[in-house]
Amino acid sequence: MALSQATVEKIQDFARRYPSAQSAILPALWAVQHEVGHVTSDGMREVAQHLGLPASLVEATSSFYSMYLTKPEGRHDAVMCVNVACALRGAEELFAYCEQRLGIRDGQTTSDGAITLRSTIECLGACGGAPMMQIDHRFEEDLTPERVNAIFERLRTEPAPSHEPPQAAAVPAATAPAAATPKRPVGGSRPRAKKADT
Ligand code: FES
Repeated sequence: MALSQATVEKIQDFARRYPSAQSAILPALWAVQHEVGHVTSDGMREVAQHLGLPASLVEATSSFYSMYLTKPEGRHDAVMCVNVACALRGAEELFAYCEQRLGIRDGQTTSDGAITLRSTIECLGACGGAPMMQIDHRFEEDLTPERVNAIFERLRTEPAPSHEPPQAAAVPAATAPAAATPKRPVGGSRPRAKKADT
């Protein structure tokens, strides 16, 4: 399915903002995900075409970051850290509670399409607030079953967050970021490399 004209114009606008077309890959992928709900193969091909880059480079960038979805998921993304600091403060038990509360297992989406739940063994960088999880790439810390209940109740009625990338200011050529290895996501709180398939 071809991207809408509005999305294509956004991608072309991103391409004009940066001295390197690679710098526009991340916001362009956000634009695809915002329109389609996830990053499709066709969408990646179109991004590559509009940026004048190899499709393999766009696909490699997309597959590196967990914030880009490869298939339709729930309106909200809940990812609980079960790395050591969180585990020591009960994250594994709390994740089991989340699964039971939502009636789904790790990686699944609730039947109403509201929440996709995941755990990650990658530290999400908020150990001081352990146990914690990311809701739509925002941190929720010092979790308890009561707080989890309140968060899930809120998410069931909330619309999907906007994944619009922020309007970037013009970037001087001398300080423009190298695009292929960005340190921070556009529109999210912290990038997470995708888990290797097991
Ligand atoms: S171990 Fe969970 S945020 Fe660091």
